[in-house]
Amino acid sequence: MDREQVLFFDTTLRDGEQSPGCSMYMAEKLRMARQLESLGVDVIEAGFAVASDGDFAAVEQIARSVRGPRIASLARAKDEDITTAARALEHAERSRIHIFLASSDIHLQYKLKISRQQALDQAGESVRLARAYMDDVEFSPEDATRTDPEFLCAMVQAAVDAGATVINLPDTVGYTVPNEYAEIFRRLREKVRGIENVMLSCHCHDDLGMAVANSLAAIQAGARQVECTINGIGERAGNAALEEIAAAIYVRQDQLSYRHGLKLEQIYATSQMLTQIISFKPSPNKAIVGSNAFSHEAGIHQHGVLSNPLCYEIMTPALVGVPANRMVLGKHSGRHALGHRLGELGLVLNREELDVAYGRFIEIADRKKAVYDQDLIALVHGYVRQVPNLEVSGVTSASPQS
Ligand code: KIV
Ligand code: ZN
Repeated sequence: MDREQVLFFDTTLRDGEQSPGCSMYMAEKLRMARQLESLGVDVIEAGFAVASDGDFAAVEQIARSVRGPRIASLARAKDEDITTAARALEHAERSRIHIFLASSDIHLQYKLKISRQQALDQAGESVRLARAYMDDVEFSPEDATRTDPEFLCAMVQAAVDAGATVINLPDTVGYTVPNEYAEIFRRLREKVRGIENVMLSCHCHDDLGMAVANSLAAIQAGARQVECTINGIGERAGNAALEEIAAAIYVRQDQLSYRHGLKLEQIYATSQMLTQIISFKPSPNKAIVGSNAFSHEAGIHQHGVLSNPLCYEIMTPALVGVPANRMVLGKHSGRHALGHRLGELGLVLNREELDVAYGRFIEIADRKKAVYDQDLIALVHGYVRQVPNLEVSGVTSASPQS
């Protein structure tokens, strides 16, 4: 059976960039956009053109120079935002205006101070204006997951009737759970006239740690575009992480039988580039791109991975462009892993030597959080020097190299 395609809409440069510690200079945004092109994303949300001169310039530059992905600019449902976005996108090979307007009562009442009817009118008018500039217009009812379901359908209907080509349902505050989010998509597909002619899209935040699970549930309920960011950066707890969604689709083809255009082997390079640009790295235990994501310290795990990586790895590091799996030696490591690492360092020990070295190693590992190559080299060399009768094959007693 032919697998359906899921489009990746990357908002690292917009939703990601608007979170603390993540702001980027224009040249950095351009560099990231080129890397996102190499990664193979379908849409790059390059910024929010009306927000500042810098944002306008970044959207414009990316629109001029990046080919392949569609370039989008965010806009509120206001004339000035829409005309500014259209201007910034003028030179794009393929462009999209992404309009958002709050739909939940709490946002309408306290933030926008407008009635539901005013919001419906504004949704329709703004989409119509954007369609006068281009034929690809996305509409997002902000805070969709806390919106009265009947009213959500009415607002989406207004946007579809006005010519929206993509309907995105943002879980703006990371509030929903997978079943509920899927149900919202199913309901829209049932109730909104003409919805079969538009692309449905999901956009999840991670306040309850469910952004990726919710995105996958939406895809299973009919969303064919997923909005996400590299390393999951974004407002508050972040957005759904692109690399996690892509890896889940790869690893669980049996459950998630979709295709996409990403080059998975570019994931790590993209993550690393972002890390160098912004002011923090992913936490070590972050799935796919964290420094521990393919590391093994426990002895049983190390032994298993050395025998067959599939024992403790559901994908190879190479799949996502991570150089190699890393054996971190610590107090939980076994003789097997120590011998293997020493071998890689050119220190080939016989069984008796390895037993003694292992005893020393455990003493050190008990005192240190991790044992590095330099420690191992020093341990073997020190040991040779201190026990001259025991020869360690392939090891000279020259001083350790750092
Ligand atoms: O989270 C959100 O609601 C958004 C919209 C602007 C799409 O980022
Ligand atoms: Zn968002």
